Amino acid sequence: MNYSNILLEKQEPVALIRLNRPKVHNALNNALMSELSECLAALDADDTVRAIVITGNEKAFAAGADIAEMRSLDFSQAYREEFITANWEQVTRCRTPVIAAVAGVALGGGCELAMMCDLLIAAESARFGQPEVKLGILPGAGGSQRLTRAVGKAKAMDLCLTGRMMGAEEAERCGLVSRVVADEQLVEEALAVAREIAGYSAMATMINKEAVNQAFETTLQAGIDYERRLLWASFTTEDRQEGMGAFLEKRAPAWKHR
Ligand code: HXC
Repeated sequence: MNYSNILLEKQEPVALIRLNRPKVHNALNNALMSELSECLAALDADDTVRAIVITGNEKAFAAGADIAEMRSLDFSQAYREEFITANWEQVTRCRTPVIAAVAGVALGGGCELAMMCDLLIAAESARFGQPEVKLGILPGAGGSQRLTRAVGKAKAMDLCLTGRMMGAEEAERCGLVSRVVADEQLVEEALAVAREIAGYSAMATMINKEAVNQAFETTLQAGIDYERRLLWASFTTEDRQEGMGAFLEKRAPAWKHR
């Protein structure tokens, strides 16, 4: 498949997707999001890919939804086309672990896209924000919800009501990002984390991801019960036999990903 708004590099067992509309700071138009969605679905179905990195360029991860494209949208069109739901939800449906590697701005939909990923690694230059208030709107791809769950009400209100940007250090301090690295190292570090994840059993990484995500959907006790059932289920996998056997026999595991 040929894409014109993203660049895909497969380096089995990982894949790197670069958002690629540099002239508009990777503004996320429909065409880009359709390609990203299609690409993620294909990678998710590809057994040779066990972790995915999404990045932008050194100036921008993405400056948000494409304002020029959004400008003419009215309610009935947005309603009929289920504006953004159709194209964006694949990111959260992807069962393969996805890492956002952010340098420069991640604003509005760009910040929301990064927050849909499982891990967020920031370069020192990264700046996050939900500046929709400046356009007379509010976040629409889960920003008000995911940001609040990630950083709490105080910071989320601050960012959404003032539209200000938050730097990488502040973002790490308040729990939005997993790690901050030097700009020159960003993609390599993200790929190294992806390779580390890809080196484990795909079954194990998928159920870990599922369990952590469940924490956002349930009460504590229901989440703990969910986790326990997944643990019991994991006892039936071939990779669980292999992982424990390899540890006890002091050898490297040979995962079957089943
Ligand atoms: C369309 C955009 C854009 C965007 C930048 N551009 N962001 N086009 N949609 N989100 C375009 C500019 O119009 C300009 O085009 C070119 O990219 C370069 O941008 P400049 O503003 O000249 O660059 P700079 O001065 O470096 O400022 C960078 C910036 C600023 C801080 C990122 O562009 C900015 O504030 N952008 C808007 C950020 C924003 O409001 N995001 C939220 C969008 S709403 P020309 O043709 O002049 O070269 C949103 C809602 C989500 O995301 C709802 C659900 C998904």
